[in-house]
Parts: sequence; structure tokens; C-alpha cells
Amino acid sequence: MERVALVTGGAKRVGRAVAEHAARLGYRVAVTFHRSPVEPCSDATLNDRLIPIGPIDFADPGAVERLRDSFCSRFDRLDLLVNNASLYLPDADPRAQLQMQVNFHAPLALVESMRSTFADDSLVVNMLDVLAERPRRGWKNYCASKSALWSATRGLALELAPRTRVCGIAPGVVDWPADMSDVEKQRYLKSVPLGRPGSPMDVARCVEFLALHGTYANGEIIRLDGGRHLKR
Ligand SMILES: NC(=O)c1ccc[n+]([C@@H]2O[C@H](COP(=O)([O-])OP(=O)(O)OC[C@H]3O[C@@H](n4cnc5c(N)ncnc54)[C@H](OP(=O)(O)O)[C@@H]3O)[C@@H](O)[C@H]2O)c1
Repeated sequence: MERVALVTGGAKRVGRAVAEHAARLGYRVAVTFHRSPVEPCSDATLNDRLIPIGPIDFADPGAVERLRDSFCSRFDRLDLLVNNASLYLPDADPRAQLQMQVNFHAPLALVESMRSTFADDSLVVNMLDVLAERPRRGWKNYCASKSALWSATRGLALELAPRTRVCGIAPGVVDWPADMSDVEKQRYLKSVPLGRPGSPMDVARCVEFLALHGTYANGEIIRLDGGRHLKR
């Protein structure tokens, strides 16, 4: 039986790396997109394994049911769900309050609506952020949405066991925000013990570890931040 993954917001950046890597590992991967088209892979052998679903706007509370229907019309099992789609906005942005819906309520609703589709030994990975533990000035709405998902990850790990494990990955910088200046990047890196940013592939390999190797991990949150969380 072929394993099936669902990666939300998988058209670009981190989600794209996770989706492509899962395809490389042999999963058939449903990829939701919102505004970004799902471009073909440079490795053409993977294209048949990436199945775009969308456009899906998680700001719309009805989107999760439409996604479930669309997914279930093509697949009859779900082995790996990666809740990756996310907004990253400062409090001053007029859409800041949407982050609770997109970053917290939607992933929770998606897990709930997919519950009967999860295969035995399945896994949910929620994409979190180390900022959930060390709030950034002016970014309360974003940080709170990730803190809420962090807490829910642990609660879901209790509720979905033993059939499904639920873990989180909390990155520091693994893909620079598009608008960050070189000066800001250097300042950030001074606070990272490893002195370098991570990469989207670091996240993809971490998902691989949780899915295929670390199969006794449940309710675990992996901080993928080069040790940033250790510094004051
Ligand atoms: N990048 C980092 O260094 C970093 C650091 C800490 C945590 N993280 C977490 O890791 C994950 C991936 O990071 P990233 O930087 O790759 O994220 P990103 O580029 O900010 O966004 C990821 C995806 O979210 C989708 N999205 C945004 N709003 C949406 C909506 N309303 N409905 C549906 N989809 C929506 C986007 O889809 P479209 O493009 O199709 O609109 C995008 O592909 C996120 O959960 C993020 O919080 C990343």
C-alpha cells in the first residue's frame, strides 16, 4: 500500500522542500496552495507524486471541509499530515488577527476533519516557531498563534494515540524572510550558537526522522534553531 502525505502551503519555500522530500521518500503527496502555483520539480520523476489541491484559503473557515472532500475524492488514507501553511505578520498589519485562524484554528480543524482517514502508525507534524517561546516585540498575534498550536500539539498527541502520533517542529530561521536586510541577518546570526541559518532541507529531514525513524516520539517538539533558544 502506497503511503500518502498532505502538506499544506507546499508550493514554495519550506513546505515545498518538505513535499518534494516526502515524494522522494516514496509518498504520494497532496500539496495545498493558496496564491503560489505548484511549479514542476527539477527532478521530473517526482512530478507524478505531487498532487496540487487548491486554491485553499485557510482564512476561510469553510476551506478545511472543501480540502477534506477534495483529498478524500483522490486518496483513501493519510499517513503524514504536515500543517505548514502559515501567515507571518506583525501586529501593525491589518490582517494580523487572521493569524489565529490560519495558524491555529485551521490546522486543528484539519486534524479533526481528517481523523477517520488517518492510517495506522500515521503522523501529524505541526510547524511551530521558536518565537512561540520567546516573543518578538510587535509580533504578539503571530507568536500567540504558534504558542496555541504548540500547546494543542501536545494535547492532540494524547488524544490521537495510539493510532496517530503528533509532533511539532519549531524552527529559528530556516529560510530568510524576503524583506530582511543583510544587517538584520548578521545581527540575528550573532544570537545563534551555530552562527548560521538552517535550511528548508533541515526541516524536510526532520520530518523524515519523525515519520520513519523516531517512531517512539509523540508530543515531542523539536527546536530546529541552531541553539538560538539557549541564548538570552
Ligand atoms: N522560514 C523560516 O525561517 C521559519 C521560521 C520559523 C517558523 N517557520 C514556520 O515554518 C513554516 C514554513 O515557513 P515558510 O517561511 O516557508 O512560510 P511562508 O513562506 O510564510 O508561508 C508558507 C505557506 O503558507 C501559505 N499560506 C499563507 N497564507 C495562507 C492562507 N490564508 N491560506 C492557505 N495557505 C496560506 C502560503 O501559500 P501561498 O504561497 O500559496 O499563498 C505559503 O506557501 C511556517 O509554518 C512557519 O511559521 C518558518
